[in-house]
Amino acid sequence: MLTVIVSGFFGDEGKGKIAAFLALKERPKITVRTGSVNAGHTVVYRGVTYRLRLVPCSFIVPETRLLIGAGANVDPRVFIEEVGLLGVKGRVFIDGNASVIEEKHVEADRSNGFFREFIGTTGTGVSPALVDRVARRAMLVKDIPSLNAYVTDVAEEVNSALDRGENVHLEGTQGFYLSLYHGTYPYVTGRDTTAAAVCSECGVGPKRVDEVLLVLKSFVTRVGNGPLDGELSPEEAERRGFVERGTVTGRLRRAAPFNFQMAKRAAIVNSATQIAVTKLDVLFPECSHARRMEELSNECLHFLRKIQDETGVPVTIASTGAEAEDTVYIGPEGV
Ligand code: IMP
Ligand code: MG
Repeated sequence: MLTVIVSGFFGDEGKGKIAAFLALKERPKITVRTGSVNAGHTVVYRGVTYRLRLVPCSFIVPETRLLIGAGANVDPRVFIEEVGLLGVKGRVFIDGNASVIEEKHVEADRSNGFFREFIGTTGTGVSPALVDRVARRAMLVKDIPSLNAYVTDVAEEVNSALDRGENVHLEGTQGFYLSLYHGTYPYVTGRDTTAAAVCSECGVGPKRVDEVLLVLKSFVTRVGNGPLDGELSPEEAERRGFVERGTVTGRLRRAAPFNFQMAKRAAIVNSATQIAVTKLDVLFPECSHARRMEELSNECLHFLRKIQDETGVPVTIASTGAEAEDTVYIGPEGV
């Protein structure tokens, strides 16, 4: 059973939290992370906050094998530090064909006015590293001695696990509207962020996918430049409780109300089969920390039904707090 988890707006929808919740529920044999270090995934589990840059959020499930796909772009220093902090050495591996971010890429990202000021990148070296990859001069993970102990064949592992009927999760990064192909170009990231691209980065074909879980937040945020429909003033965002800061960069996120049209397009292009809605406690404080359907207010249920009606996709998960377990599992039929 293969489940792909992606975000429907500009990233920071709380995909990390949902990935962690789903991992606790389904205890996957393997979870694969794609993308790169520009994305920060936050997991709060039993009172401890983890900010992950490369390791999959399923690390909280001790028996899950943690893999990083061939399409990913790895900064060896960030990776080794994170593996040490989390104590996951021995169960975390990277595809030998993943590309490497070098110091020169970080410098190029930070000193390039187009990337840093015009686009407002995260300054983590991702785009310059991808430029080298496309130019066929990148270093790959299999070329780096310090990563020797971590190399595996992710595509082989995932396809074999699926052949054996095991659960596999693919954890996408960033958001649909930051996709190089489908987002608000040129204000996008350096890769496609859709469910199809996540499969491609991992090395698994479209016919093997069982579920695509689209994660949406109860409001929209964006860091960096580019259009944001319905953008609120910083004061109004503050009044509504929409103020957030970037996990990787610490930058203040721009904010707007939930956008049904954007949600619908993201559901279509990702062929979503399920939707998770996060931060419901911000719009509906009475639902804070709810873990059962009966604890969701009528206003909250009405909002979730509207999302279902507009997208044609069932809302199966409702998130009501930062803790992985502050979540209502609604079920496959939705609300
Ligand atoms: P880059 O990915 O660092 O090249 O940045 C390109 C754009 O994507 C900028 O607007 C970044 O703020 C944004 N971005 C990149 N990664 C993330 C993420 O994980 N969450 C939110 N925004 C991101
Ligand atoms: Mg993030």
